[in-house]
Amino acid sequence: MIYVDEAAGRFHLQGKGYSYCLQVDEEGRLLNLHFGARIPDGSLRRLVDDYRDGASFDPKVSRLPLELPSPGAGFMGEGALQVENTNGDNILRLRYEGYTLLDGKPALEGLPASYVESADEAQTLVITLKDELLPLRAELSYTVFRDHDVLARSLRLVNGGTEPVTLTKMQSASVPLYGEDFDYLHLKGGWARERRPLRAPLAGAAVRIESRRGASGHEENPFLALMEKSATERQGRVWGETLVYSGSFMAEAVPDNFGNTRLSIGLNPGVCRWRLNGGEAFQTPEALLAFSSEGLNGLSQAFHGLIRTRVCRGYWRDRERPVLINNWEATYFNFNEEKLVAIAEKARDIGVELFVLDDGWFGKRDSDNCSLGDWVADRRKLPGGIKGVSDKIHALGLRFGLWFEPEMVPPDSDLYRAHPDWCLHAKDRPRTEARQQLILDLSRQEVQDYIIAAVSAILGNEGVDYVKWDMNRNMTEPFSAALPPERQMETQHRYMLGLYRVLETLTAAFPQVLFESCSGGGGRFDCGMLYYMPQTWTSDDTDANERLYIQYGTSVVYPPAAMGAHVSAVPNHQTGRVSSFKMRGDVALAGNFGFELDLTALSPQDLAEAAEQVRTIKSLRGTLQKGTFTRLESPFAGNYAAWQFVSPDGDELLFCGYQRLVEPNPTTHRIRLCGLDAEAIYRLDDGTAYTGGELMEIGLSMPIAKEDFSSCVLRFRRERAPRA
Ligand code: GLA
Repeated sequence: MIYVDEAAGRFHLQGKGYSYCLQVDEEGRLLNLHFGARIPDGSLRRLVDDYRDGASFDPKVSRLPLELPSPGAGFMGEGALQVENTNGDNILRLRYEGYTLLDGKPALEGLPASYVESADEAQTLVITLKDELLPLRAELSYTVFRDHDVLARSLRLVNGGTEPVTLTKMQSASVPLYGEDFDYLHLKGGWARERRPLRAPLAGAAVRIESRRGASGHEENPFLALMEKSATERQGRVWGETLVYSGSFMAEAVPDNFGNTRLSIGLNPGVCRWRLNGGEAFQTPEALLAFSSEGLNGLSQAFHGLIRTRVCRGYWRDRERPVLINNWEATYFNFNEEKLVAIAEKARDIGVELFVLDDGWFGKRDSDNCSLGDWVADRRKLPGGIKGVSDKIHALGLRFGLWFEPEMVPPDSDLYRAHPDWCLHAKDRPRTEARQQLILDLSRQEVQDYIIAAVSAILGNEGVDYVKWDMNRNMTEPFSAALPPERQMETQHRYMLGLYRVLETLTAAFPQVLFESCSGGGGRFDCGMLYYMPQTWTSDDTDANERLYIQYGTSVVYPPAAMGAHVSAVPNHQTGRVSSFKMRGDVALAGNFGFELDLTALSPQDLAEAAEQVRTIKSLRGTLQKGTFTRLESPFAGNYAAWQFVSPDGDELLFCGYQRLVEPNPTTHRIRLCGLDAEAIYRLDDGTAYTGGELMEIGLSMPIAKEDFSSCVLRFRRERAPRA
């Protein structure tokens, strides 16, 4: 609900569990008085006066909790909006002009964003600020969802004059939080070790989390949280932000010296400037903000609910995702049709539903150094082309999926030979290669159209039900042959807009194709990609032990239904580690389950176990995909990891516990569950019954491990307590 008190200049955005309170002060500045737990409307009159008093060396404006600060006129920080004016200065004095309030949520032009399906699901408030001198307007947009404890926030800048203005920093959200004694938490990683939650005290220093690489990246995820010192997974106040965007970003937590900490997120000003001509508008990506007074799990659950149902879209959003087999780790580039069909036959026998043909099917691609862009089947490997193999897979009763890496071009490709300037590059400078490839310049419409046509030709004619959309290097020389010098710093963002146009066109043209995004594993795991593709390949690291860390960390923001998770061979190809088939399956079940190994090489015993895993997954899919996911014990904290799923109706409970190393003379290790019905009975298949209270207060004892890397998955049915 959004309350507006026009006379008092007060806006109260009240979600299910949070309040976000804005106030126009006597000089027309927009102040943020509160973002935190929900409070009754009308609670804030007193707070406006807090900022009036106090002698200070700095001007008064520097101590105000400005909603959209800019440098140059009293605010001493860097600000959330920065411009270069025609006269060369960077001053903005933004003053309140007006607001509009509407039901529902308008789409953001050209950008992915959270959405609603009917107008009664949300309200959107747009507040307009205008510079006192220049005809520049800032439209701040806020959406409060009826069913989700997340606030969507973005900024649109309109140049109402005739002279150009250069935007040099335009954060999507920038919130001054009261307090400075916070810890911050971010998801740091690298290839094959993505999204490890790191928590540290802010201790008065500014913190910057960013990517400049033209992708959200493996190294940092577009996410930053602030936590009360005492907050844990299960209790305490936590604020978090993420961005519905897949390119370079910057998130910051900046304490001022008046007891506030500014939390912000948006495009990365280090690699993005935008020239806004008179009459033009610029829309920032959307930020999603959440607050939880129930610890980090509460924050994650708020993000999960919105992302799964109102960021992810389309035919597959709510449908059961198929159990898949991917041939990458089974064959790499070394396959032919016969080999693929042999794997698919075994897959059919154990109940797999989708066969995915990974890299190596096109051009003359026997290694990763050529042919991207030449999207024509290699007849040496596939004599009947893609249609030939997809027909055979379909005849087995499986769906057929195909790998693409459409954003790339290696110098050794027909596409590069035909269009050497179609890659991102800086004139007269060398082109830095990575994985022997260059990146196509998706800021150019002809390049976008080429990709749309090439991918459509295959999806439209060759019987493809699933696409793995990969992207295996990041940007260097991120400049375009098609832009004038003064617009070169727009290339990265124009690339993303071009990519989004390609994805919008393809997903609209092939609505029933299931798309999974990938970038060297989880190098582009963000809400921008999830808007087009409801699942992401979480990591190239398929080691079950490593996956405990990766999936645990990923779940801080993203729901399990968004994470691809596969059972692969041992010794594991990334780490050389050996773990049991059971452990590998029990870890993979906490995501979109699949296999990535040569099923024809499995022992009968492992094959039987694989079939059993598929049966289990199929019977649990509703709970795994749509249930409430709660982290119970962190693998980063010790020898164990655990999480639970509860079905939407609360009747099914799945506990997943993992132990890394065997312990000598082990002590009892209990794990407490969360959020259950204390009075109800939760019964295991073997008849053992527990009360919800017992599971939450005493917990489950992990069985004594007999080998390293073991797991314990327990499935309970709730029996409601008879009403007294
Ligand atoms: C990336 C992906 C892998 C696989 C290879 C193929 O690394 O993350 O899953 O598709 O590319 O080259």
